[in-house]
Amino acid sequence: MRDRYIDLIEQTYYFPQEGFDLDGDWLRFNKVDLKDLIEKYGTPLKISYLPKIEENINRARRWFHEAFESLGYNGHYYYCYCTKSSHFAFVLDEVLASNAQLETSSNYDIYLIRALYKKKKIDKAIRIICNGFKTDQYTQSILELFADGFNNIVPILDNMDELDAFLNVEKDLNIGLRMAAEEEPNYQFYTSRLGIRQRDMIPFYLEKIKPHPKLHLKMLHFFIDSGIKDSAYYWSELNKCLSMYVELKKVCPELNSLNIGGGMPIRYSLGSKFDHGYIIEEIVNKIKTFCDEAEIDHPNIYTEFGNFTVGESGATIFEVIGQKKQNDSELWYMINGSLMTTIPDAWGLNQRFILLPINSWNQVYQRTIIGGLSCDVSDYYNSEVHINQVYMPKIMGDQKLYIGFFHTGAYQDSISGYGGIKHCLIPGPKHIVIEKDDKGKLSHYVFNEEQSAESMLNILGYNRE
Ligand SMILES: Cc1ncc(COP(=O)(O)O)c(C=O)c1O
Repeated sequence: MRDRYIDLIEQTYYFPQEGFDLDGDWLRFNKVDLKDLIEKYGTPLKISYLPKIEENINRARRWFHEAFESLGYNGHYYYCYCTKSSHFAFVLDEVLASNAQLETSSNYDIYLIRALYKKKKIDKAIRIICNGFKTDQYTQSILELFADGFNNIVPILDNMDELDAFLNVEKDLNIGLRMAAEEEPNYQFYTSRLGIRQRDMIPFYLEKIKPHPKLHLKMLHFFIDSGIKDSAYYWSELNKCLSMYVELKKVCPELNSLNIGGGMPIRYSLGSKFDHGYIIEEIVNKIKTFCDEAEIDHPNIYTEFGNFTVGESGATIFEVIGQKKQNDSELWYMINGSLMTTIPDAWGLNQRFILLPINSWNQVYQRTIIGGLSCDVSDYYNSEVHINQVYMPKIMGDQKLYIGFFHTGAYQDSISGYGGIKHCLIPGPKHIVIEKDDKGKLSHYVFNEEQSAESMLNILGYNRE
């Protein structure tokens, strides 16, 4: 009988596959020897594998480039990185080394831009797309950056009132309008709260922006929260956006850019079959067809891929430190950390990540539920993308079992509040950063030790006089 964990994986997926292979019965992640890291640093352990960032930026550029070439598309493509998906300096360093442009979401993001400039990681020519609801402070920071010579900053108006703060600019400022998308039918509301309602866009432009001598509408922004998908819903929303682009272009000839936001999928399963090249070609083709029919220039295309840039660089590793059989069919593998606080999307959004054992691949497998350390009943993980179950190797005797959640590099740290107070005071794991030098040699360093009790007590005020 073929009932080892390796048999299960080989029967279900192509394995080994990009990013995942075995050395003996230990898993490697992008050829990184996880056994070595675990022996050296213990668990729980968070890993940021930086070479993936450059790789994915280049993949996206290649897909757009190929689509432009094969379709005869005349615009430029700009890859912007959506900073909110991971704000770490080492991520931004990597993104900027690949010459990506940036997208911001809130006031403190502008402080981040200033810090990058101070460290000479960017110059003032960088393109900065400013999205998000503009508080007074956020608008002020944008205007100050613009006044300081960041002339390629493009505030995207999320609502019409935001324009007022930009009316007094003294030099030419390019702006964008975000078009509110209709939500997917299974949402609790019809239209996204983000952006300007479609029927207001052209009257707003004609009345408020067109007459202004210094404000130039250059970009139409469109983002579908559920991501880029080959679905009737996505194509129908893209069509609406392109109709809007064409209509706007008729009254605003200087409009020249279309921003299709983020939402490029990453792999959340070893069985993932998403064809990025195909979908990008389809998107570019649709844009081109709309513009050719309307006899207008092809717009420059901007993307703001966050998850796609950084998601696949992350992994979070735990040890199974106990087993609890609570009835005849439910066996819990208790891990030395909390799922709620390290991969909060798994808890809050039912997001699935790639979950694999790190060792014991030659061991017989069994059905388990992964249990987190917090006292919360919902601190568990019991299904994968394709099956409503989780299988793990059996733990024999005093053998150790390590498990890893992979492609956890986007959003999890900011949502869980990296370095802050954690549910049940369960500390954030030690964090290792893996980088590649110019000759392709990998090295790593400890970015942060496991969160200390002292740091939490400080935040909570126990160390105040
Ligand atoms: C305006 C905007 N752009 C880009 C993104 C990035 O999306 P993703 O991480 O799915 O690529 C988001 C995410 O919420 C967004 O709101």
